This record gives sequence, C-alpha cells and structure tokens, in this order.
Amino acid sequence: MPEANYLFSVSWGYIKFKRMLNRELSHLSEMSRSGNQVSEYISNTFLDKPTELDLPCSVPKSRERKRRQGQQQQQQQQSGMMTQISGVRKLSHTSSISGSSGNRFGVKTDQEDLLSKDLEDINKWGLNVFKIAEHSHNRPLTCVMYTIFQERDLMRTFKIPTDTFVTFMLTLEDHYHSDVAYHNSLHAADVAQSTHILLSTPALDAVFTDLEILAAIFAAAIHDVDHPGVSNQFLINTNSELALMYNDESVLENHHLAVGFKLLQEDNCDIFQNLTKKQRQTLRRMVIDMVLATDMTKHMSLLANLKTMVETKKVTSSGVLMLDNYTDRIQVLRNMVHCADLSNPTKPLDVYRQWTDRIMEEFFHQGDRERERGMEISPACDKHTASVEKTQVCFIDYVVHPLWETWADLVYPDAQDILDTLEDNRNWYQSMIPQSPSPPFYSSDGEGGPHGEMEGGPVASKFQFELTLDDQDGDSEGTMMETTGDLTLKDETGVEIAAHDVSPAET
Ligand code: CMP
Ligand code: MG
Ligand code: ZN
Repeated sequence: MPEANYLFSVSWGYIKFKRMLNRELSHLSEMSRSGNQVSEYISNTFLDKPTELDLPCSVPKSRERKRRQGQQQQQQQQSGMMTQISGVRKLSHTSSISGSSGNRFGVKTDQEDLLSKDLEDINKWGLNVFKIAEHSHNRPLTCVMYTIFQERDLMRTFKIPTDTFVTFMLTLEDHYHSDVAYHNSLHAADVAQSTHILLSTPALDAVFTDLEILAAIFAAAIHDVDHPGVSNQFLINTNSELALMYNDESVLENHHLAVGFKLLQEDNCDIFQNLTKKQRQTLRRMVIDMVLATDMTKHMSLLANLKTMVETKKVTSSGVLMLDNYTDRIQVLRNMVHCADLSNPTKPLDVYRQWTDRIMEEFFHQGDRERERGMEISPACDKHTASVEKTQVCFIDYVVHPLWETWADLVYPDAQDILDTLEDNRNWYQSMIPQSPSPPFYSSDGEGGPHGEMEGGPVASKFQFELTLDDQDGDSEGTMMETTGDLTLKDETGVEIAAHDVSPAET
C-alpha cells in the first residue's frame, strides 16, 4: 500500500475526529461557564494546535488558543545551552543494597513486611502506590522499579549492576519534586507499574524484545522527571527558561527526557553501561519517541493512528497481535505508555480518587499563581469556579474512554475489566455532580436550575465518541488506501446522535 495514501487516510480520519470533538466541546462550552471551563481544559490540553485544515471548524472560544494561533513559532536554535540542563542537581547516593537491613526492594525501610505485602500486587492493575510510598520512606519509584526489574529479570539480562541500578533510581526519584501534588515520583511509579502490566497483556505475549520492554519501562519511569507542577502553556506564557530552551514545543516532555538521560551520567548511575552501542542507540530512540508522545497535545493523533491499527490488525491463531515492523511496534509502545499515563480513572475508585485530589490540587496551585500574576486562569485551575466531578466526567468521556476503548479493541478481550472499572468510576463521578440547587459550583457560576449544565447536557446522556474508519469500497482485505474517517457520535444505547462525514472537498 502506498505510504502517502496511508498517511492521508490516517490524517484525514484524525482531522475529522478533531472537528467532531471541537464541535461537541463548543456546544458544551456554550452551555454554562463551568461547562466552558471543562471544555477549554479538554481542548487546550488534549488537542493539538489548529492546522490550516482545521480552521473552518468551530473551536471552543479560548483567548489562549487564539493567542497561540497567532504566535510565531520561535525557530532559532539555542546552541550550546543544552550542555547545562536545568534541574539536574548534584546528589550523592551510596547504594545501601549490600548493607545488612531493610533493603530487599532497593530502599531502606523499617516497615519491610508491610512493603513486601504491598509489592505482592506488583503484577496487578490497582497496586496501591500510596501505601508503597508510605512504607518505603517515600521511595515508591525506586522500590516499584526494583521489583519490576527483578520480576522481569532485566538486571541479569542487561548486566545492570544492582548498586548502579539503585543509585540511578534513587537519583531519578530525587529529581521528581516531592512538593508537587501530582507530578511527583508516585505518579512515575504508577505509570511504570501500569506499563509493566500492559506489557504482559496476553495479546502482546512474546511480541516485544527485552530491549523494547526495558525502553518502555525506563520511559515510563523518567517520563515526568523534574516536573515543576505547571503546564506547558504556563511555562510558555511566563516566558520561562524551559520554554525558551525548547522553542515552546513539547517543553516539559523534552525536559523530562534531557534530565532522564543526563542523570545516567552521574556517578555510578549508568544502568545501560553494558549494552552495546547499537542497543543504547535503539533504546534512546525508542525512549525519546515514547516520552515525546506523552505530550497531551499529541493525544488525538495518537488515538487516530491507534484506531487505524485496530481496524487493520492481524492476529495469530492464538490471538497474539502480529507487529512485524518497527513502525507498528513503536506505535503500540507509545500508545501503551500514553494509556498508562491516562490510567487514573481505570484504577479502583479509592486509588483513582486520590489521584483526582492530587491533580486538582496541582491545577489549583497553578491557578493561584496565575491569579497572583494577573494572568488569565487556565481552564480547570480556578479553585473558585472549577468543578472537580464534571472535570473528571468530561475527561473520561472525551479523552480517557475513547483511548481505553480503542486499546481494549486492540488487545481484545484482555482489557475488559479495565473498561468496566472505568465506566463504574465515570458513573460514580457523574452521581457526585451536585444537583440543583447546587452550591458551591452553581452558585459561584451564577447558574443553576433543574436543567442547567451537565444534568441535561451531553455529560448526563453519556456521549461516547466513536471514530470509525470506514472502508468505503467494502474491501474486506482491509487495505487502508480507501479508508476514510467517519465520525459518529452515539449515546449510551448506541443511538446515533450526530454523524458527520466531511469529504475532502469541504475543506
Ligand atoms: P501528565 O501526567 O504530564 O500527562 C497526562 C496528563 O493528563 C496529566 O499530566 C494531566 O494533565 C492530565 N490528567 C491525568 N489524569 C487526570 C485526571 N484524573 N484529571 C484531569 N486531568 C488528568
Ligand atoms: Mg507529562
Ligand atoms: Zn505523566
């Protein structure tokens, strides 16, 4: 199949998907002020900058977005500056792994029994990293990674000296900010462990090489290192050093990678010292790819590509996916880490709620900083008007569910339980949206009434996006040449609410 046609069909599906989502968010934003906030949060965070082809479509009103549209991309190279990576601190860790007590999991602890019990769930979706942090003197990343590497025998396979491994992990963990509510080393441990589980999904049995597995888990571990607790947009709007360094493009993700790789150069930290040059190069290339794909503005294009892959997937007689080229393999891996990064709402409710509390605390902290500086407060970051529950419901409906549903199709039937939990959790947050009369959210909005906002709106009716990539010629071979993206919006009963198929001529 000619690649150009393939790319055309993929990007066409993507453009239409974005248009549909934009239209829906636009509708949501017009319903109320808090609906507008939620809509802007989804739009600003998970949609890429508008392309020329997107322009005829209505985009939720956002001054920030317009500002970004008009913004010239700063192209000048900052040569020489990368030799000094901000955020890398000199810390010395002498690994205590050969010491006498409390280091069975690479960390010192006086609660080894409890920690050991917590870590029995290392191969389960729903491991409680909060407990692990509590029982490891706040070293969740080090002990989760240590346990995963043991479990997968990666230290032996790649000849990683144990003390080097522990020294690196402690150093990496130190470069996560413990005073940042969400993007700290608990989140890194969570994403690493979630990736570890997804790698073991039966549909991917024996698909990935040891090097690819090593790369995916390492990428997950470093993917948010030195996160300052504010968004890319905040860093750009405040003319931060980081935004300057990376020309406003995937600012944080580039920084996480630079710090993650730089730390390998610290004393006794090079866990890849015994890899061949070729292995190191391949690993580095894959890790860069996966971490850059965690920039949420890439979400919609990742999802559209994943959809295409599902539509054309080939499986062996035992139901294992056939991924015989690098492009397909890395595409699955980048989506896997992305799914792990967006997995909070798929976890047991008590765990999920703790993540929600943390992300909202971080958002509100950013909002406070914006208020103090007289800046426009970012969507979902204004503690006086944001609705935690609505944010979660919309986040699930528009972002998390479409992604996980597609992942579940790819690895069918492995992820059905995860989808069930996600749907239960979504309904729980929906049930927690205050009904009218409804202080504090509605009163602060100056809105209310029995049918105001979400109760009668798209969230209550549980819209789900369905991106279908129809084969217009009905070619059962499933070649993608003729594939066009046809977006259909259905309600929970499967009834079509809206469908739109834009022919290329319409643009
Ligand atoms: P990050 O971890 O860098 O990448 C995934 C992003 O999704 C995360 O930052 C947040 O911006 C967003 N996100 C993750 N979980 C939630 C959640 N529960 N509610 C709202 N936004 C979330
Ligand atoms: Mg990130
Ligand atoms: Zn993350």
